[in-house]
Amino acid sequence: MTKRVENKIAVVTGGAAGMGRTHAQLLAREGAAVVVTDIDIDGGRRTVELVEAEGGTASFVQHDVSSSENWKAVVDHTVAHHGRIDVLVNNAGILAFKSLPETDDDVWDRILEVNAKGTFLGCKAVIPAMKNSKAPSIVNISSMYAIIGAPNAAAYEASKGAVRSLTKAAAVDLQQYGIRVNSVHPGVIATAMTNDILADPEGARALLGTTILGRAAQPEEVSAAVVFLASDESSFMTGSELVVDGGYIAQ
Ligand SMILES: NC(=O)c1ccc[n+]([C@@H]2O[C@H](COP(=O)([O-])OP(=O)(O)OC[C@H]3O[C@@H](n4cnc5c(N)ncnc54)[C@H](O)[C@@H]3O)[C@@H](O)[C@H]2O)c1
Repeated sequence: MTKRVENKIAVVTGGAAGMGRTHAQLLAREGAAVVVTDIDIDGGRRTVELVEAEGGTASFVQHDVSSSENWKAVVDHTVAHHGRIDVLVNNAGILAFKSLPETDDDVWDRILEVNAKGTFLGCKAVIPAMKNSKAPSIVNISSMYAIIGAPNAAAYEASKGAVRSLTKAAAVDLQQYGIRVNSVHPGVIATAMTNDILADPEGARALLGTTILGRAAQPEEVSAAVVFLASDESSFMTGSELVVDGGYIAQ
């Protein structure tokens, strides 16, 4: 049976941990060759080992998504090894639990630089390498916090709102190259980003808020949505947003 992203070449940013790691693993299980990128070298190499242990194909490039020079190196590596890019998952992201009055200029700038500028640079950098792809797809990881307000995450919310609307602008502008661009909006997911709060019962209750399913998701539950948007199964979706939040924003 043909796998869902058979023979596709996928780049996953922030692939050293959390959801980036499971995006890489699920894409590889479904037949993609994956280029894992991250600032964390050890974690990135570990993801490659995990993919290879299951018989998949992966390589690692050290990468700060807020640097255009670093993006050039990622694209050059991928084209040198695989000839093109079919899928880009702009997953790398950072969070600071700070309310608007607590957010100083440095926190604002760094969060916007990684989450918003990093996604912008990625969408732009891959265009030439996607021209040789039959069905190129960019998947931008936003958040349910791009859609609703939440306490103590002002810069993060703004950055993920930027990813949400940038996705729609990119869908319009990159259509001329046949590139589809969609966003994924996770709710509360059990990763390093949320582990400390989820470990505390009161913190967990506050973070889970109105989540209908009453629990945090495992990272793989978001990666399933990423594989769908990366694959040709989502061929009529572009500029769209897929909410994976256990029903948090439904009530
Ligand atoms: N965990 C959640 O509940 C949740 C919810 C909604 C959205 N998200 C988003 O999902 C994505 C993945 O989150 P996660 O929970 O797996 O986080 P994580 O902290 O477990 O992993 C993030 C990865 O990004 C890497 N990274 C950080 N800055 C980078 C940079 N400048 N360049 C390259 N890599 C960098 C880190 O080294 C790390 O490996 C992020 O964009 C996050 O904002 C997470």
